[in-house]
Amino acid sequence: MMSLDEIIQNRRSVREFNNEEVSDEIVREIVQAGLFAPSACNVCGTRVIYIKDKQIIKRIIKLQTAHFINENTKILCIVYDNSGDNREYKETALSAAAAIENMLLKATQLNIATCWVANLPRQKFLKEILNVPRNFDIISFICFGRTNIKNKFVPRKYNVNDILYIDKFDTSKTINLAPPRLNVFLRRLARGIYLRLPKFSWIVKFARRFERKF
Ligand SMILES: Cc1cc2nc3c(=O)[nH]c(=O)nc-3n(C[C@H](O)[C@H](O)[C@H](O)COP(=O)(O)O)c2cc1C
Repeated sequence: MMSLDEIIQNRRSVREFNNEEVSDEIVREIVQAGLFAPSACNVCGTRVIYIKDKQIIKRIIKLQTAHFINENTKILCIVYDNSGDNREYKETALSAAAAIENMLLKATQLNIATCWVANLPRQKFLKEILNVPRNFDIISFICFGRTNIKNKFVPRKYNVNDILYIDKFDTSKTINLAPPRLNVFLRRLARGIYLRLPKFSWIVKFARRFERKF
């Protein structure tokens, strides 16, 4: 049995899965771990859609999503109740993220590889495909499965001394973290436009060049 530290450190995003089955029982165990996450005001607003229908996955791929998703990818779509009032601190996303991380860690313990994916089509189209009501937001996908990939490690950029500050934010320790604002603005604009464009194959091919692949 892995210790908590081992589980935390062994969780790595994996984007290549083999065809080995994952039982529904294991999926239920993973989802159950999400239930124990904290949630703002204990709303417990996480809902999980296990997408098994290949036709549905094909429709999602057609609208664009992460490059490695194909019709055989096992996907949990995490949605969260969006009726909370603390938008300043994004409680919908935060509560869902807590549940997602719990699920990723549980999957790691069960030797199931995962990748958290937020490179998704526009909410309104995805909600329509998955029949998600208006009072829920789609937060992310968890792609999961068995894998042959071993010890894939994306190095971390900082150590504890770099990220732990006392009393006030220490800008002297945070070099080059924020890219120039214009750069951020342009990237957001480009993503916004891309999401709204029709997905002709040449547009998708062009956009793929800008998707970060690990
Ligand atoms: C909110 C969020 C969204 C992510 N979306 C994607 C995605 O769309 N596609 C992808 O390949 N990886 C995605 N990832 C995985 C990150 O790329 C990955 O966590 C990061 O590179 C660090 O690698 P590691 O998870 O192996 O430690 C996402 C992670 C988070 C937390």
